[in-house]
Amino acid sequence: MPQVHARDVSMASGNLLLTPSHGQGEAWGKSKCSSCHFMSRLHNTVPKIKVIVEKKGFSTCTGCHGSNGTKAARQCLVCHNVNDLPVNPIRTGKHRHDFNLKKDLPTTSAQCEVCHVGSDMDGTFEIKQDLTMFNDKLVGKSAYVDVNDFCIRCHNRDHQQKKHKIKNAGKRDQSIAAENDFLKIDKHGVTDGAEVERALYPGLREGYQYKSIVDCVDCHTMHGTKNPGLIIDDSRKGVFHLDAQFRKEAYKAEIFDGVNTNGESVPKSDYSQLCVLCHSMNVTDQERKLSGGAQDTGNGLNGVHFNDGADCVTCHSHGERVQKGL
Ligand code: HEC
Ligand code: HEC
Ligand code: HEC
Ligand code: HEC
Ligand code: HEC
Ligand code: HEC
Ligand code: HEC
Ligand code: HEC
Repeated sequence: MPQVHARDVSMASGNLLLTPSHGQGEAWGKSKCSSCHFMSRLHNTVPKIKVIVEKKGFSTCTGCHGSNGTKAARQCLVCHNVNDLPVNPIRTGKHRHDFNLKKDLPTTSAQCEVCHVGSDMDGTFEIKQDLTMFNDKLVGKSAYVDVNDFCIRCHNRDHQQKKHKIKNAGKRDQSIAAENDFLKIDKHGVTDGAEVERALYPGLREGYQYKSIVDCVDCHTMHGTKNPGLIIDDSRKGVFHLDAQFRKEAYKAEIFDGVNTNGESVPKSDYSQLCVLCHSMNVTDQERKLSGGAQDTGNGLNGVHFNDGADCVTCHSHGERVQKGL
């Protein structure tokens, strides 16, 4: 093995997890880090980490370096919370990817660990380093092609992860159908989209193109949202390829729960504020008016059609074969 760094644990190799060779084997299995390590001597090469570890203390060590062969729980929320790292990730809203469809379970560090077992905390999200490698019945531990590949190692029909099975969804639900739909049916998935010239309401905002894949996490957030189905409620939580300045404006994507903010009753599945973050029809003013494309979706943006009604899900849903789908 080529030696990348004098240490096993280093930012350069991306590995922070301790192994049985820790302290020549003498330190493996010990839980009290403070008995051998002095805070002031640690992390001199990584100033950002030094600051937060000194502030939060010895309870953080296993969060980044693993349990060191003990049963110690790994803490994530001690740092990844609204006060210490408010936008990393943004965790507002009561719905999270808590591995349960039926209930909103409280968020725990153990949930974070399922998806990010060996993150290097270097400030850049990399699929290879920062997402847990799941062993798949069909493809083994082959590297993820993209973030969607990670999601569908669990969200599939017949090769789910034993420890994280989909239990509460019907056979046709997206939680189980996602792999099939993504690979074969969905417009945002692998299947190529329409010829723009033939489309009725064509037009995408800067950053997105036709005939490209839209990632699950562009529309769904794992970390917290007010919306059902883990749909993002704010442009900063997804839509990763939009112009950075535009995205930072924090456009809302509210999915009304049958009632809008003015107390009026509206369809439950008016997804227009989500769709309009990326779609904006590029048609004549006349066509725009006729199709409802000039109508503000409620977040200050317009450009999606309303002429077919505001209950978008009747035509636009995952796996839809007949209508235009998703
Ligand atoms: C019995 C003493 C001892 C205890 C307890 C101990 N360590 Fe160590 N640790 C060492 C020694 C010795 C080294 C190697 C010298 C060095 O790098 O400081 C080391 C190295 C490390 C390294 C660098 C490893 C590498 O290979 O690059 C990390 C990270 C580390 N310790 C974290 C921890 C954490 C986290 C804990 C608590 C769970 C802990 N240590 C508990 C003695 C200890
Ligand atoms: C936020 C993540 C994070 C936490 C929490 C953390 N470390 Fe580290 N630690 C790192 C990184 C990153 C490196 C590698 C630094 C490098 O590449 O030079 C490192 C390196 C080390 C090293 C090797 C020498 C050095 O100081 O760079 C030791 C020893 C160590 N950590 C011990 C600890 C102990 C003990 C704790 C708990 C007080 C702790 N770490 C908490 C990220 C963390
Ligand atoms: C179901 C898997 C999953 C769970 C559970 C999960 N994450 Fe993530 N996380 C991801 C994916 C995928 C990304 C990349 C897309 C994104 O940034 O939303 C990511 C990105 C991140 C990022 C970098 C992006 C940013 O906003 O800076 C951080 C930090 C992070 N997660 C921390 C956490 C913490 C802390 C928890 C627990 C509260 C957690 N994650 C739970 C899958 C997950
Ligand atoms: C001592 C505080 C601390 C603890 C504990 C901690 N993190 Fe982090 N984490 C950070 C910091 C600091 C960053 C980098 C932020 C930056 O530079 O933008 C980070 C970044 C990340 C990222 C983004 C990817 C990357 O490489 O930067 C993920 C994912 C992540 N942490 C997950 C976790 C998980 C999961 C745990 C628990 C098992 C955890 N963190 C524990 C401080 C911590
Ligand atoms: C380790 C397996 C695993 C991974 C990886 C995973 N999920 Fe899940 N996901 C689950 C389980 C389990 C549930 C809950 C199913 C149940 O209760 O039957 C779930 C539920 C969901 C839900 C419904 C949540 C709700 O409360 O409405 C969505 C949406 C979702 N996942 C999207 C994603 C996306 C997008 C990714 C990739 C970024 C992803 N998941 C990665 C296992 C996983
Ligand atoms: C993150 C950006 C993004 C979001 C959000 C988004 N889309 Fe798309 N959409 C795209 C991209 C990019 C394509 C082109 C995909 C291709 O051609 O392969 C597309 C294609 C489509 C198509 C196929 C177009 C055609 O003529 O074949 C439909 C229909 C569509 N989107 C509907 C929706 C609906 C409905 C929503 C809201 C629920 C939505 N989109 C949200 C980026 C997005
Ligand atoms: C009665 C069915 C129906 C309903 C309801 C409906 N749409 Fe559509 N939508 C379509 C059809 C058909 C197309 C295909 C146009 C094409 O291929 O050019 C389309 C295309 C789209 C596109 C893709 C534009 C592109 O890039 O080609 C978006 C975005 C979209 N609809 C958003 C919405 C939103 C938001 C709602 C709810 C407010 C909605 N739709 C309700 C039928 C519907
Ligand atoms: C263009 C935005 C978009 C993309 C990309 C997208 N979704 Fe969705 N997703 C939605 C919308 C809108 C709904 C609600 C309508 C429906 O159920 O079809 C939804 C519903 C779901 C649900 C059902 C949630 C529940 O609680 O009932 C799951 C699970 C899901 N998506 C997973 C995924 C996975 C996995 C991927 C990637 C392979 C993905 N989605 C990609 C927009 C998107």
